[in-house]
Amino acid sequence: MSSDWVIRAEGLGKSFPVYRKAHHRLMQMLAPGPENRWYEEFDALRGVDLEIHRGETVGIVGRNGSGKSTLLQMICGTLTPSRGDVQVRGRIAALLELGAGFNPEFTGRENVFLNGTVLGLTNAEIEARFDDIAAFADIGPFMEQPVKTYSSGMYVRLAFAVAINVTPEVLVVDEALSVGDEAFQRKCFAKINEIRDNGATILFVSHSAGTVIDLCDRAILLDAGELLTQGAPKHVVSLYQKLVYAPADRTDAIRSEIRRGLALADAGSPAAAAAADAAAPQDALPLAAADPTSFWEEGLVPASTILYETKGARIGDPRLETPDGRRVNVVSTGGEYVYRYRVVAERSLVGVRCGMMIKTKTGIDVAGTATAAEGDCIPVVEAGSTIEVAFRFRCALASGTYFLNAGVLAREAEGEDYVDRQIDVAMFRVLPSRLVLTGLVDLDFEASAAVA
Ligand SMILES: Nc1ncnc2c1ncn2[C@@H]1O[C@H](COP(=O)(O)OP(=O)(O)O)[C@@H](O)[C@H]1O
Ligand SMILES: [Mg+2]
Repeated sequence: MSSDWVIRAEGLGKSFPVYRKAHHRLMQMLAPGPENRWYEEFDALRGVDLEIHRGETVGIVGRNGSGKSTLLQMICGTLTPSRGDVQVRGRIAALLELGAGFNPEFTGRENVFLNGTVLGLTNAEIEARFDDIAAFADIGPFMEQPVKTYSSGMYVRLAFAVAINVTPEVLVVDEALSVGDEAFQRKCFAKINEIRDNGATILFVSHSAGTVIDLCDRAILLDAGELLTQGAPKHVVSLYQKLVYAPADRTDAIRSEIRRGLALADAGSPAAAAAADAAAPQDALPLAAADPTSFWEEGLVPASTILYETKGARIGDPRLETPDGRRVNVVSTGGEYVYRYRVVAERSLVGVRCGMMIKTKTGIDVAGTATAAEGDCIPVVEAGSTIEVAFRFRCALASGTYFLNAGVLAREAEGEDYVDRQIDVAMFRVLPSRLVLTGLVDLDFEASAAVA
């Protein structure tokens, strides 16, 4: 291990007391002492050895509850380790989960000064940067309002504006960015890239496998408080996905498979990571989706699906797949995909056709089609039979998040009507591909400009 580390953890662990019953906490307070223990220790993080070097951008992935935030909080010093030790060299700015950092009673402006001071800036230095911070946060007159009146979006905007305008040597970001709107996220990632190019060390937690692959030099996989593996982002993300989507009875086996890989990789030097990547036993990992252009990302599911009352049919299993049948929800502009769902007829139906629509986050219809024109439908569908529906398409969408809708139409006495309809049944994300592409659709531009 080299000596130019910026963050180093050795045997780092954190336990939290867990009380089985609410009153046990009180009993513990009334009668503390080694012979009276009213709680059990829960290991949120165990034996983490980690070395992060100057200028590295490192992503941390892992399921909810795997210990990501606990690790970041110990690195930032807002949580004390139970075991082991962690050190950081240099000015560290952090964007932890909501709730950390600001005093809710103070105004935005006051918090900027408070925060800047904590990060080691003088008042004059903060004064000099204030306009930049305000411009980046872009929250207008709210700057003079108490932070407790902010929306979570405003909170993150201000927190981020401070964190990146104090010229941090180490920047730690914990999922905070998922809160802001997409335009702000883009601005933030541009800024993170700039900070990285200036040689800062960046550590961040993201649910977005795409972001980790795009942005990071290295990724770390945490699982149940254990550092399972680390290495090239693409490789680690595939292992993470393999672990998450494994059937329950395979999880332990896969876990130890990944652990054995750690022995190969040893530490996270780029050389070791590359070696681990090369040495990864590919045939032992048949599920690993190493394709960085389309994959499945956990957590990318609609928050609110609207199911209409069924009127004779039931739509099920809506999904996006690659042409070879791999289920995906992160895709790339230009790729071919198939939107599939299944329809079970609850009674016999006549004149059946099936439709779909892709919508934006704000509900704009982007593109839709149906399996047939009206009058060219499946004449009769018997009760109890199943229709497999597929819409193959080339993804001409620009990067962003989109929602899938489904509807089944049948001919009724009063005319054609929906027999089942589901709004926002699935969502998918299109990865950023071309740098300069705005709007919804990639028209395959070729742009040029020349001075005549
Ligand atoms: N203050 C706490 N008291 C008890 N348990 C906690 C506390 N903070 C976190 N935990 C537990 O520790 C585990 C790791 O949490 P966390 O680091 O927040 O995970 P992640 O950020 O990966 O979702 C979880 O099981 C969580 O419930
Ligand atoms: Mg967390």
